[in-house]
Amino acid sequence: MGKSWKTRLIHSDVKVLEGYRSLASPVFRGSTTLFPDAASVNDRWDQHEVGYTYGLYGTPTTLELAGKICELEKGYRTIVMPGGQGAISLINLALLKSGDHILIPESVYTPNRKLAYHVLRRFGVEPGFYPPEIGSGIEALLRENTRLVWCESPGSITMEVQDVPAIAAAAHGRGIPVALDNTWSAGVYFDAFTHGVDVTMQALTKYVGGHSDLLLGSVTVKEKALYEKLGSTHQLLGCAASPDDCSLALRGMRTMAVRLKHIEASARKIAEWLSDRPEIELVLHPALPSCPGHEFWVRDFTGSAGVFSIVFKPEATKAEVERFVDELELFGIGYSWGGVVSLAVAYDFQRSKGRPDYGYRIVRLNIGLEDTADLLEDLEGSLQRVWGGRLGK
Ligand SMILES: Cc1ncc(COP(=O)(O)O)c(C=O)c1O
Repeated sequence: MGKSWKTRLIHSDVKVLEGYRSLASPVFRGSTTLFPDAASVNDRWDQHEVGYTYGLYGTPTTLELAGKICELEKGYRTIVMPGGQGAISLINLALLKSGDHILIPESVYTPNRKLAYHVLRRFGVEPGFYPPEIGSGIEALLRENTRLVWCESPGSITMEVQDVPAIAAAAHGRGIPVALDNTWSAGVYFDAFTHGVDVTMQALTKYVGGHSDLLLGSVTVKEKALYEKLGSTHQLLGCAASPDDCSLALRGMRTMAVRLKHIEASARKIAEWLSDRPEIELVLHPALPSCPGHEFWVRDFTGSAGVFSIVFKPEATKAEVERFVDELELFGIGYSWGGVVSLAVAYDFQRSKGRPDYGYRIVRLNIGLEDTADLLEDLEGSLQRVWGGRLGK
């Protein structure tokens, strides 16, 4: 019996020719993954071991991205998450239980801190916050029940570069794993696993995506035991990354080396130029000696990214700092970073516990791919319009 056209729209006889090759990674979407027969059906998550079982655990596109991040970071395996903050959550939920204590740097990305304070505490996990410059001094803060130490280097906005190997040595002395937010280095400039880290995460949203048009995160582990813990938790949390976003990230990775190279050179030039400006007290760029922990950047990093902060002289008012941001023409005002467009955001640390005393005088810049001379002209124009050469003279 011939099937109705309605059924044939679904079960068509059309065969796609084989042998097509292109330079682009295909986007494999799919919730259902078909098994060859009834006996093969299983729902195990580790697709490296059992083959594809369900879209939630990845399609070939998701796993291609995971494999490339893992190769870049020289890890054992990578799990892709729908965002960087999701990657932070996965690490915490996989490695912690009620009664545990964790340590987090005060300079950490704020939602990481808030997750610990507002959510993990509700589940009986006690967070402790430590000064990012602590180094081996972290030993004194480790407790019987400490189960995880977070690092983020450089820290968000205030940019302190951490002595990660010293922190890792102290934690490992008590058998405690160390997690690192490796987003700033794009997984390129800081070789986390050779510096003692056990699990890294990245917001792929930033340099891997590179064009401000996707949200993705990654969790990469150094060895199998951690992979088992993270993978089995990932399965049950149900956080699937979209294969379409993964394909954009794969495309982003192809141009990442040239983007990073341009961004590094441009950001350093701009940071150095800003260091000489009378309006500015401090440039917090890890490659400059004025940045806390610069010596660890020199020792441990192989390059620098395009995100850094500036602190205006104490005479600057909050309204003037905000006007400086508003007067910029090429810099957008908005969160996230790592894309091709330069950004500027003014922060106010007046009531932020543990943050240095920069008050409202700190502005974070994300340097994009615009011509450096144009960005310098924009910055100079704004400084001139707000202070007219008066501040700091
Ligand atoms: C250092 C750092 N980690 C994690 C995240 C979170 O990433 P996402 O926005 O993809 O959730 C961000 C985002 O701004 C970040 O700056």
